Amino acid sequence: MRQAGRYLPEYRKVRAQAGSFLNLCYNPELASEVTLQPIRRFGLDAAILFSDILVVPDALGQRVSFVEGEGPRLDPLTSAADLARLDKLQVGTKFDLVNETVARTRAALPPEVALIGFCGAPWTVATYMVGGRGSPDQADARLMAYRDPDTFSRLIDLLVETSVQYLSGQISAGADAIQIFDSWAGSLPDNEFDRWVVAPTRHIVREIKARHPNTPIIGFPRAAGEKTTRYVRETGVDGVSCDTAFSLEAMATLAEEEQVVVQGNLDPLLLVAGGEALETRTRQILSTLAGRPFVFNLGHGIVPQTPPENVARLVALIRNQE
Ligand code: CP3
Repeated sequence: MRQAGRYLPEYRKVRAQAGSFLNLCYNPELASEVTLQPIRRFGLDAAILFSDILVVPDALGQRVSFVEGEGPRLDPLTSAADLARLDKLQVGTKFDLVNETVARTRAALPPEVALIGFCGAPWTVATYMVGGRGSPDQADARLMAYRDPDTFSRLIDLLVETSVQYLSGQISAGADAIQIFDSWAGSLPDNEFDRWVVAPTRHIVREIKARHPNTPIIGFPRAAGEKTTRYVRETGVDGVSCDTAFSLEAMATLAEEEQVVVQGNLDPLLLVAGGEALETRTRQILSTLAGRPFVFNLGHGIVPQTPPENVARLVALIRNQE
């Protein structure tokens, strides 16, 4: 989950220095610096590469920008003609900058701290490419998948291929594990879920395992609910990140019955609230998942209004229970 971001004053400083958000993603020195900031401040066990899932559409030539306070904006891809305009000419050059960030960060991190690389899952990245922005129901991408499955399927295939290149480059540059973020996996009916979430993810996992058999792969099918078991079985991920709404009992069952490491799932808003509410829930998560293959994490990304002191408090709380 996001570790860097607007809740940290040291991040805001570097972000201002970089100019645009994408400039920061493509500046290995500064991107490495913001990757390391949360590790220095909190002593976490793993760092997540600073980049974004929308680096992939940007590298494919779609126009991407981040509007302060509003999130990402893309020129929407609505037709086969728009898809045909994407190309791979810039992909190598742009990914090389991200790989350089990985190499620099790996060299600067203590050996016991893992570095996690990542990409967006094809379905989630496609929702931004087609809709041109984040939306509560991903209606534009869902409609395109129904009305023009041919074009949509070619878009997904292009994203599978490009994501494999993106992840493989990160692993070769020093990432110890990778995570595939499917933030909008929850918006599809089961047949569409199998087609646009499970199948492309299985394809990515197979290709990465063929090239890097020892690198753990974590999936994050957010809001997939009861379909998560199928996702785990059929994609072959080694770990599954569970969102805030996933029950602790269901996480325990997954860990026990599916030979998968579970990760999660503290509500990021508890890091805003702090106090008793944060402590009680943290203890409950730790005690329910004790003794199982479990990684403590948030159920979704950290939010800008989070007081950094609450993150420090959470880390101390977890360390004291170990
Ligand atoms: O430490 C880290 O932050 C790790 C790097 C990281 C970012 N984005 C940087 C970022 C990771 C792993 C992501 C993943 C990502 N990006 C996802 C999947 C996970 C999720 O949150 O669901 C998605 C959907 C995106 C697309 C995206 N990027 C959105 C919707 C936004 C705007 C959100 C907002 O808060 O305004 C971004 C911007 C973004 N990416 C920020 C960061 C730190 C916030 C911008 C900033 O702080 O300058």
